[in-house]
Amino acid sequence: MCGIVGYIGTKKACPILLAGLSRLEYRGYDSAGISTIEKNGLSLVKDKGRVKILENNPAINTLEGTIGIAHTRWATHGKPSKENSHPHQDNSKIFSVVHNGIIENYQELRNMLEKNGYTFLSQTDTEVIPNLINYYYKKEQEHDIHAFLKAVRNCCLDLKGSFAIEVISSEFPKNMIVVRKDSPLVIGTCESEKYISSDIPAILSYTRDFYFLNDLEFALLENTNTTFFNSNLEEINKPTSNIEWDATASEKNGYEDFMLKEIYEQPTAIRETIGSKISLESKCDFEELELTKDYLESVNKIYIIACGTAMHAGLAGKNVIEKLCRIPVEVDIASEFRYRNPIVNEKTLCIFISQSGETADTIAALKLAKLCGSRTIAISNVIGSSITREADYSIYTHAGPEIAVASTKAYTSQVVLLNMLALYFAEILEIVDMDLINNIKKEMLLLPKKIEETFSCKNSIQEFAKKIYQEKDVFFLGRGIDETVAKEGSLKLKEISYIHSESYAAGELKHGPIALIENGITVISILMDSSLIEKTISNIQEVISRGAKTLVVTSHDCNTTMFDEVIKIPDTIPYLSPILSVIPLQLLAYYISKEKGLDVDKPRNLAKSVTVE
Ligand code: F6R
Repeated sequence: MCGIVGYIGTKKACPILLAGLSRLEYRGYDSAGISTIEKNGLSLVKDKGRVKILENNPAINTLEGTIGIAHTRWATHGKPSKENSHPHQDNSKIFSVVHNGIIENYQELRNMLEKNGYTFLSQTDTEVIPNLINYYYKKEQEHDIHAFLKAVRNCCLDLKGSFAIEVISSEFPKNMIVVRKDSPLVIGTCESEKYISSDIPAILSYTRDFYFLNDLEFALLENTNTTFFNSNLEEINKPTSNIEWDATASEKNGYEDFMLKEIYEQPTAIRETIGSKISLESKCDFEELELTKDYLESVNKIYIIACGTAMHAGLAGKNVIEKLCRIPVEVDIASEFRYRNPIVNEKTLCIFISQSGETADTIAALKLAKLCGSRTIAISNVIGSSITREADYSIYTHAGPEIAVASTKAYTSQVVLLNMLALYFAEILEIVDMDLINNIKKEMLLLPKKIEETFSCKNSIQEFAKKIYQEKDVFFLGRGIDETVAKEGSLKLKEISYIHSESYAAGELKHGPIALIENGITVISILMDSSLIEKTISNIQEVISRGAKTLVVTSHDCNTTMFDEVIKIPDTIPYLSPILSVIPLQLLAYYISKEKGLDVDKPRNLAKSVTVE
């Protein structure tokens, strides 16, 4: 949801800001803009459309300043247009502001400012921010740097909602102020330069050292110096964190699209996520969680809470945790959990999954679980992300930066990590046979190789994509663990190919949805769990007899004449099977999107990191 980038240093800011915006474009891409501090005041260049349009704007070539802020937008208030694009300025053009998030009380603030003579050019919530800063700034006697800081602080205390904000001012040509609350923002630092961004990969090629701000902490930046303040404007110290991600991980490296690259990175992502935590010789090690046998025995319910694909990983996690640990697991959508007055207390363990670690609903659900007295564990792919700073404990997938909007390698890494967590709980609880534990570990260690083997389905999938890319509706079926993968396959197809699709528990079809099955419709089934395969095949036969075209993803020897296409993949144990069976479905969604000539990495209406509720 919107990307913001900033630079303060010794080089021309504009090219650095444009490069940052291109890298952040997956967060929003309906308009883009830039403001720099020039000799004659603040520049402002912005337009509707992608970053390319901004790059081609002749005014861009005139920007010489070494301090600047920039924004790529995912519209919330006001349609995509030049006026609604960021940066926004106050009426006196002293302040330029970019903002990611939503100001919930903007109408109230706008009314107050209008009563005080301020006028507005846009329909955005953001435009109140520079004007409110101006309002407070004018109230100060001395117009020094402290007055600037105080005006930004007073403005932020009035804002309800979420925000990551960068502010520059024509009156302070050597400074920038940044602040965040419930929206992501990182500060990359090197000797005489500071890079600000909504996320790490966009600025990873410049530095590996980052500051992370907590809610309502303010950073006053100069090129060689950063001073941090709390909301009382008392100076505070902040350490830097060194990020190990390889800068090339956020480049396409010869692949046509990030999504395809990320699909092919899955063997490495899984290997890195397993790391040295799994071995046949020793117990699974998550010592950072500090969970004792007494505590786990006291837990009467585990909640797994997440959104979208991360929630689908949670469903696979439920399957393995319940089977190995015999603790009931409920999986909930974060935006629903928050409003259902959930039964959560000190006997509930809540696990939150978020690739980005910045999903607003997941963070809000986590805060609620903490308030209810539950212990909380965050699973994220981003070190230092908001969710990891909120949770009692954090563990990480090591999938590397995921840039494509459609999640692939994060999902499979999350499923692996949840299996590892289940093993860790089971080993502490000492309720599972060692042979079963060792078998899961052995299979887990074989996954990277088996994923490589699964890629050999690529050509058949590509051919199948050519046959069905013009379809209007597609169904996905599965039972048990396979149903969780059907859900993920269906989501992938919807989001990047814009084909309507539904996923169903195979046995549920005859209770209503089978009415939708008509001649020629495509039904994709996952048949991995051998104990359920016969039952699912019976359900597939029911759709075949109503004229459906069928694709089956399986590790078993099926009667290939029964189905239109059989994708044979390597076998593994059911707990881990989503990691293999999802791959043909990821590739199918990808190739259908390509056949339709769509932008795979930036599907319409979506953004990578959903930082609004
Ligand atoms: C789908 C997808 C989304 C995310 C969801 C949660 O491909 O990417 O459904 O999974 O928005 O995002 P995170 O995991 O960052 O909380």
